[in-house]
Amino acid sequence: MIIMSLLDALNWRYATKKMSGKPVAQEKVDQIIAAAHLAPTSSGLQPFRIIVVTNPALKEKILPIAFGQAQVTAASHLLIFAAWDNYTEERIRGVFSNSNKERGLPDNASDYEVQLTANYTARSTEENFNHAAKQAYIGFGMAIAEAAMLEVDATPMEGFNAAELDALLGLRERGLRSVTILPLGYRDESGDWLVNLKKVRTPKAEFVIEYN
Ligand SMILES: Cc1cc2nc3c(=O)[nH]c(=O)nc-3n(C[C@H](O)[C@H](O)[C@H](O)COP(=O)(O)O)c2cc1C
Repeated sequence: MIIMSLLDALNWRYATKKMSGKPVAQEKVDQIIAAAHLAPTSSGLQPFRIIVVTNPALKEKILPIAFGQAQVTAASHLLIFAAWDNYTEERIRGVFSNSNKERGLPDNASDYEVQLTANYTARSTEENFNHAAKQAYIGFGMAIAEAAMLEVDATPMEGFNAAELDALLGLRERGLRSVTILPLGYRDESGDWLVNLKKVRTPKAEFVIEYN
C-alpha cells in the first residue's frame, strides 16, 4: 500500500498489539524522532526528551513495568517520551540562549523571557511537570503520525508504571519523568486480534460542535 496523505496514514495505523520482531530501519526511526523534534511547544521550550531503547536486556526489564505488554520486547525501538520534572530559570534561560545564538541575536533575556520565567517559577513542581507532559504529548502525536506515514507500526502507551521506569532508567537524575512509550515495529497480521477490527470513533456529528 502506498500512503498518499496524512488521513490515509491515520486510517492505516492502529494501536498495534502484536509485532513481528522485524526491525525498523534507523533512517525511519530518525524521521519519526524528527517529527517529534519539530512539534510546536508552549513558548518553544520543548520541555521533554526522547529516550531510545534498543537494548534487548533493557527491553526485557521494561516488560513487567509495562504490565507484560508484548510490544515492548517485540518492537525494535522503544521511544520513551519523558518530560522535564519542573520549569526552572536555568532551563528556560538555556532554551532562549540557544535560540538567540542560532539566530545571531544578542543573548539578553527579553521582557517576554523574564515574565515567562517569573510565571513558571511561581507555580508548583507538579503543575509545571503536568504542563511539560502536555507538551510531550504533542511530540508524541507527531511521532505517531510520522510513523504511520512511513508505514511503521507503533503503539501509543500509557500503560506502564512511570515511577518504576524512571528508576530503571535513572530519569529523575536527569530532571525527567516518563510520560508515554511508543514501541516501533511491524504488525504481525496473523497474531494480532485488533488488526482486522473496524476503526471506531465517536460519530462526527457528536464530535464536532459548530457555532454558526
Ligand atoms: C495516550 C495513549 C495511551 C495509550 N496506552 C495504551 C497502552 O498502554 N496499551 C495499548 O495497547 N494501547 C494503548 N493506547 C491505544 C489506544 O487504546 C488506542 O489508540 C485507541 O483505542 C484508538 O485505537 P487506534 O489507535 O487503534 O485507532 C493508548 C493510546 C494513547 C493515545
